Amino acid sequence: MLKRHLPMVGHTRGNRSAVTCALKCGNACAHPVPNTSENPHFRDIANAAISRRAALGLGGGLAAAVVVGAQAVSTAPTAEAHGGTHPKGGGKLEFRALNGVPKTVDDVTVPEGYDWKAIIRWGDPLFADSPEFDITAQTGESQSRQFGYNNDYLDVISDGRDDRRGYLVSNHEYTNENIMFSPEYIASNPEDVVNAGIAAHGMSVVELRREGRGRPWEYVRGGRRNRRITGFTPFSVDGPAAGTDLLKTVEDPTGARVLGTLNNCAGGTTPWGTVLSGEENFDQYFVGTGSAEEARYGLGTTPTQRTWETVYDRFDLNNEGYANEVNRFGWIIEMDPEDPESTPVKHTALGRFKHEAGTAVLSRDGHAVVYSGDDQKNDYLYKFVSRKRYRRGDKRHNMTLLSEGTLYVAQFTGDSPAAEIDGSGKVPSDGAFDGRGRWIPLVKNDRSLVPGMTVEEVLVHTRLAADQVGATKMDRPEDVETNPVTGKVYMALTNNDKRTVATVDEANPVATPGGGNRDGHVIEITERRGDHTAERFGWNILLLAGDPAKSESVYFSGYPADKVSPISCPDNLAFDSEGNLWISTDGAPGKIGFGDALHKVTLEGRNRGRVEQFLSVPVDAETCGPVIHDRDNSVFVNVQHPGEDGEWGKHTSYFPDYLPASGPVQVRDRVAVPRPSVVQVFSTTGNNGTGRGRRH
Ligand code: FEO
Ligand code: CA
Ligand code: CA
Ligand code: CA
Repeated sequence: MLKRHLPMVGHTRGNRSAVTCALKCGNACAHPVPNTSENPHFRDIANAAISRRAALGLGGGLAAAVVVGAQAVSTAPTAEAHGGTHPKGGGKLEFRALNGVPKTVDDVTVPEGYDWKAIIRWGDPLFADSPEFDITAQTGESQSRQFGYNNDYLDVISDGRDDRRGYLVSNHEYTNENIMFSPEYIASNPEDVVNAGIAAHGMSVVELRREGRGRPWEYVRGGRRNRRITGFTPFSVDGPAAGTDLLKTVEDPTGARVLGTLNNCAGGTTPWGTVLSGEENFDQYFVGTGSAEEARYGLGTTPTQRTWETVYDRFDLNNEGYANEVNRFGWIIEMDPEDPESTPVKHTALGRFKHEAGTAVLSRDGHAVVYSGDDQKNDYLYKFVSRKRYRRGDKRHNMTLLSEGTLYVAQFTGDSPAAEIDGSGKVPSDGAFDGRGRWIPLVKNDRSLVPGMTVEEVLVHTRLAADQVGATKMDRPEDVETNPVTGKVYMALTNNDKRTVATVDEANPVATPGGGNRDGHVIEITERRGDHTAERFGWNILLLAGDPAKSESVYFSGYPADKVSPISCPDNLAFDSEGNLWISTDGAPGKIGFGDALHKVTLEGRNRGRVEQFLSVPVDAETCGPVIHDRDNSVFVNVQHPGEDGEWGKHTSYFPDYLPASGPVQVRDRVAVPRPSVVQVFSTTGNNGTGRGRRH
């Protein structure tokens, strides 16, 4: 007999919604931070280094080295598969910035001269024979042929010569059964609800069409490439840990074939046209055995909120033969959106942790480099460098690039005295939060570089390996993206209420009383000589987020704080064709009282650090997966978990269909529930796609 889904534990930390805490990251905040390693916070290392430097009179030399490391670099080769989603120069989105939209506004709020439409919603049928969305009859079968729930990652790609056709790739991070289904449906159809939930996870590929450049896209039911990948879809496993005993279960004695992908968060389109996706908070789907390895990944030993273990043995690791099932999640996956019959892959060479993102870029000499953050308080930033090199036009070869290479974890060192990093966010006397960094190798090809651990152990228990080598504990690494214009790398640190004055360091310098790093920050990384394969880098903080009207610990690279839009909890990052950074947020309502938003940040020139808000999303939603097609005067975002804090019959959002009396759009569907959706924001004032330039 199934329990009612998702008993809420009634807590919330850091002012995030209790429901979001429970469902998105398995109440991570309610449990101790899993990183209990003695790996020191770098403040301790930095103090030792600075006193040593002072003794040797080396302060000036270090500063000079940082300046050299911070020079602009050349760009990587452009994407061949779709002609480059980020062409250099050209298009420009003109808009008057918003200045914080109240969190109670149940709408996508856009600047004057723009409008929005939902391209596809949770439950929309993908195939000619898909069942219509019917909230009173959702099953695993129907859901596996419809658009999934809580879309997070997004890319929108137009087909080369035909600007009227294209496709989107999106993922489906997690489910919220209590607002997806009525209590009566959950009680009377428990197994259908479990299966619908598993099938609502994963990824979607959806074909698009439009009347021409600058016109809104619509999705194509029955498109050739349409595909659903779910928690049931077979994956192959490759890389040095494929087939290891640590990945074997009674259902899969090969250790190389896994059913499903779960909790997919940010990702990226590779230069060879495939899509990467990070499996993030996978721990919450499993009942653990209580091992130390499980604890380091945050697994609990009690029944899960979604109760999948009551239907499928593999979700309870205590069942005979299933102890390793959890080791089969937490990977970067790669899938080919052009081939709906292809088997997606889990790449063990990139390590196992709560992958927030997977951003692939080519180094100048053709190695594939993937940056990925591990999104947990006090966890780490990683980088993978392929052994083999990219071959233009050889997709089959390029799809082997992520099977073998070097996996690194990042160590950040500051250049200012520890006494000047006091948790207040006050800029140190050298004028910047900045310093140097080192990429510490954990695995090189099939060889472990971590004493006492085999290569398989390092790749499966990557967090434990990184604990041993002096990686820097960060304020929840979310998205990491490379700027296609300058080659610099940007990393969103979303927040960390466990950061204290005792553990601040120059790379994580904010610890407000009672709030830790409440609003998050963004770090700019410059690889040495602009080489993405380098083992050294320079870094500086681009911004410390917050509402300047209420917070003293804000910083915008010197841009006047009273002239920026309020921003909190940076999560996903993207770039426009001119190399401006766009930041979407997750958690702003609980921190600054405004709806989650999408902001443009100028990176170069006299306006560096200027934050301009472009949109905000409906009640309880987070802004995800921004895609900036400025040549088409269009911006795309995923509106994830609208109405998350509501309950059945008392929804807090009715986005995007709305009830006649509660929103700006006439009801378009008989179902009145919030539906996570892909949204296109487009200009209504002309100048649509008339500029020269490449397709997006
Ligand atoms: Fe899925 Fe770290 O956000
Ligand atoms: Ca400094
Ligand atoms: Ca995220
Ligand atoms: Ca998020």
